Amino acid sequence: MTLLDGKQTSLDIQAEIAEKVEQLTAKGFKRPHLAAILVGNDGASQTYVGSKVKACERVGFESTLITLDGETTEEQLLAEVEKLNTNDEIDGFIVQLPLPKHIDDQKVIEAVNPLKDVDGFHPSNVGKMALNLPCFLPATPYGILQLLERYKVETSGKHCVVIGRSHIVGSPMSILMGRNAYPGNCTVTLTHSRTKDLPALTREADILVVALGRAEFVTADMVKEGAVVIDVGITRVPDETKKRGYRIAGDVLFDEVAAKSSFITPVPGGVGPMTIASLIMNTLLAAEGKSALNG
Ligand code: GUN
Repeated sequence: MTLLDGKQTSLDIQAEIAEKVEQLTAKGFKRPHLAAILVGNDGASQTYVGSKVKACERVGFESTLITLDGETTEEQLLAEVEKLNTNDEIDGFIVQLPLPKHIDDQKVIEAVNPLKDVDGFHPSNVGKMALNLPCFLPATPYGILQLLERYKVETSGKHCVVIGRSHIVGSPMSILMGRNAYPGNCTVTLTHSRTKDLPALTREADILVVALGRAEFVTADMVKEGAVVIDVGITRVPDETKKRGYRIAGDVLFDEVAAKSSFITPVPGGVGPMTIASLIMNTLLAAEGKSALNG
């Protein structure tokens, strides 16, 4: 079993980007600038956005964090988005999800200038991704592709089963793994809450991507011997023995599934850090005025 070390791979990518930033600034170009909007005080979102801002500092980017209180109206948020759209200093920006219930996520996503949409959530980028055209790929799927590529995991002709059809992970992952590209060229099965006999399908998976957000859902009996297992889950499970009162669990019961896997991502230290690396890669591309085909 080989551990797909997202923490190290993410640091490797960030070191490569830091070098590119130095080259750019030496030539007189400005530093890439990422902005993030955080609405409300969800603990997990604060942690994620904090990690994104820290990564910007590490690679020599400028960063701007805009924090808005939970009472912010949709109209006020849309006005902030428009300010970033038209601010030439900002190369790319994200609006951290989830947003408070009174705000329509989709309306906000559609308000972002697709050329600054480093999350790859705008319908224009999603459509281009489906057509295999240059675009910003969403950070989590892009991070998983990077991990598969850097560990030279064979994907062509494999059966990839994805659990979860979220717009952020499962749905784009299913599109990307079916593309005529590397990583890709898989036969893909996208499963969700209405899927019948899920274990029968997961047992057929050469590559299993688990993104449903239920702690330790996938057990060894659901996994084929030698499978590649990608765990996207990050759930805070209450744990009195921990100082902060919780532990972080993935969607996969790690120890018993790892024993059957050829490659597996740990949680934490697998997909999570790769998401950060992808966002940084997309921001560099935005600053260079390109968007990635990533194929
Ligand atoms: N919430 C969970 N994942 C993401 C992400 O990749 N981008 C944003 N903006 N919000 C998220």
